[in-house]
Amino acid sequence: MRIVRSIADLRVLLKTLRAKGKRIGFVPTMGYLHEGHGALVKQSAARCDATVVSIFVNPTQFGQGEDLSKYPRDLERDQGLCLDWGATVLFLPDASEIYPSGFQTFVEPGGLAEPLCGQYRPGHYRGVATVVAKLFNIVEPDLAFFGQKDFQQTLVVRRMVRDLNLPVDVVVVPTIREEDGLAMSSRNAYLSEEERGRALSISRGLLAAEVAFHAGERKVAHLLEIARAALTEPMKGVDQLQYLELVDAQTLDGHQGEVDRTVALCVAAYVGATRLIDNVILAPSHDEAVLNVTLSPGQA
Ligand code: PAF
Repeated sequence: MRIVRSIADLRVLLKTLRAKGKRIGFVPTMGYLHEGHGALVKQSAARCDATVVSIFVNPTQFGQGEDLSKYPRDLERDQGLCLDWGATVLFLPDASEIYPSGFQTFVEPGGLAEPLCGQYRPGHYRGVATVVAKLFNIVEPDLAFFGQKDFQQTLVVRRMVRDLNLPVDVVVVPTIREEDGLAMSSRNAYLSEEERGRALSISRGLLAAEVAFHAGERKVAHLLEIARAALTEPMKGVDQLQYLELVDAQTLDGHQGEVDRTVALCVAAYVGATRLIDNVILAPSHDEAVLNVTLSPGQA
């Protein structure tokens, strides 16, 4: 595995690979890697000839008072994991490489960035879209892999790829969970043992709603109530439920009445000082297409 820190060196290396006809896969990350990232890297390694993993804690997607300075980091461990998972290149740019002095051009996503996390993290998806667009332009991957846990992010990125005619296929990989159901996240590292126990109410709530859905429950209000009951259970639940919403899985519009299309049940909640997100996709027919369709520019 090659470790590359500059854009110029990465471009030279990737040009050589591309000249040999290699298909390039890309997994953008902010490091402190876990098996959720592992699933993305392994899928890229299986589908592409070379896999680039980037580790860059992107300052423009953190708001004031968010956890940029204390975002967990362990580069040595991350390098070992990338090697084990089959990465070919690890790209480790400095902030000044990505945002040189004078930087002033941003990608402004539209309505998909507004609901859910967008309401509580103003500017977050502008930062995500900007850095992902830059990384796509630097790496020029054939395929780029993102996790379903950040469901809204996957929609914002796909929309950007279509709107800006970026020549990359976006692949969304299902959320990887701990054995007890907790969605893997770098932020789980912040949780105390007691908080981790209560964080489980998030996946418990989503799973309970999913089970009810598969048993035939279609009323949005009932599904939300089932999830909410677990999330807010006294002593066992989260400290603050930021949002629990059932939305159209393609437009993120709030869904009311009965579920008659593929929807996403999405949660953001605080456990102690840690903000966690999770979601499940509920499809009336067994329709996984919403996740697994890869959008190429021609499909826009
Ligand atoms: O999902 C993440 O880790 C980040 O939002 C990403 C896509 C690497 C952009 O900084």
